[in-house]
Amino acid sequence: MSFNTKIDTIPTSQLSIDDTNIYSPKYNWKDGSLPESVKEAGELLKADQVVAMPTETVYGLAGNAFSSAAVEKIFKAKGRPNDNPLIIHISDLGMLKQILPEDTALPKIYEQVIKKHWPGPLTILLPKGKNVPDCVTAGHPTVAVRFPEHPIARAMIHEAGVPLAAPSANTSGKPSPTLADHVLQDLKGLIPLIIDSGSCDVGIESTVLDGLRQPACILRPGGVTLEQLRQVELLENCQVYKKGKFVESEGENLEECPTTPGMKYKHYSPSGQITLIQPGSSLSTEENFEITITNLLNDLSSPTSSSSSTDTSIAVILTSALTSSIAAKLNSLSKPPMILSLYDPNNDQSVSQLLFKAFRDCDSAGIKHILMEGLEESGLNTGIMNRMIKASSIILKY
Ligand code: TXA
Ligand code: MG
Repeated sequence: MSFNTKIDTIPTSQLSIDDTNIYSPKYNWKDGSLPESVKEAGELLKADQVVAMPTETVYGLAGNAFSSAAVEKIFKAKGRPNDNPLIIHISDLGMLKQILPEDTALPKIYEQVIKKHWPGPLTILLPKGKNVPDCVTAGHPTVAVRFPEHPIARAMIHEAGVPLAAPSANTSGKPSPTLADHVLQDLKGLIPLIIDSGSCDVGIESTVLDGLRQPACILRPGGVTLEQLRQVELLENCQVYKKGKFVESEGENLEECPTTPGMKYKHYSPSGQITLIQPGSSLSTEENFEITITNLLNDLSSPTSSSSSTDTSIAVILTSALTSSIAAKLNSLSKPPMILSLYDPNNDQSVSQLLFKAFRDCDSAGIKHILMEGLEESGLNTGIMNRMIKASSIILKY
């Protein structure tokens, strides 16, 4: 089926939600009434169609989580392998009951973390009840559930009247969309409606926490950090799960990072080959970084680009406070690369917000080689580095 995909813009400022009663929140629209397109989204969702929905992490492709027909449409539009399970999104705590098995209470381990981090960029694994079709969980006995903070996402779920299954709204294998335009790039003609609320605040996907294992562990680092989770009662020993084992901290994995091309877990990656350049130790200096990046640029410089004043085959993605001094030096080269600066001194989330957009921009510009500045792993940077490593072919330390 082919659609004339419609986009409608609804700024987050249009809605405030009163969560005094988290089981039955109140939706206060600024001009007093529900926008037509949110109503339309609700109707489409009730009719088992799929709709792109803004969230604080990335845009999601939403469908009725209790309908196999809707869930099949999600897999089809994304071209997603059906052994990769989906996250179910709720708009109030009352909806949890419909997802869990009958007479099953929320596992105790989640009580405090939910109080602290829901609504928010945190997904938890729960036992799956009979309302949830097997296609949502790819046959697993557990189901991933998230209560997003984004008011428009919540309004859409509320209008649908059921929990919504929603993977990221990209074609499988592409970076998650952080702008409605990214969704359109991938899904134009495949879905009827995209609700646009501008750029996503977090920019990388939610943290996936498995509290059903002992010890509790993070399956995917994201907007809620390991450090934040360990401050929560019962999660003091929370671990990070990586490559088939548990580790005490994300940092331990740096030693295992693949350093040769071709032998890694590719996931979200642009068509250009990424070389990730990361600080190797406390001896890493700005000077080392500069030397490393200049040498790499010299090696890569393409003789075929001699007719243009810049090298259009190479991009450099900069992420730290070194950005302005390094960018100035790179721009003074005879053939400067395309420079993408993700660092913003006034916004400590700018790198995560802009990373996936940078990957897509490199693709649109036909970039063949990307040199990307890595970050020290802690806090939100752990999630950022996880995505960077997955997208990279070569990892170097300076
Ligand atoms: O921020 C997010 O989580 C976004 C927005 C739209 O909410 N959604 C998202 O969904 O990133 P998706 O499908 O792109 O990623 C879901 C991840 C996958 O890695 C999947 O394997 C994992 O969650 N997952 C889902 N259900 C699972 C389960 N029962 N057990 C283990 N992992 C699960
Ligand atoms: Mg995804």
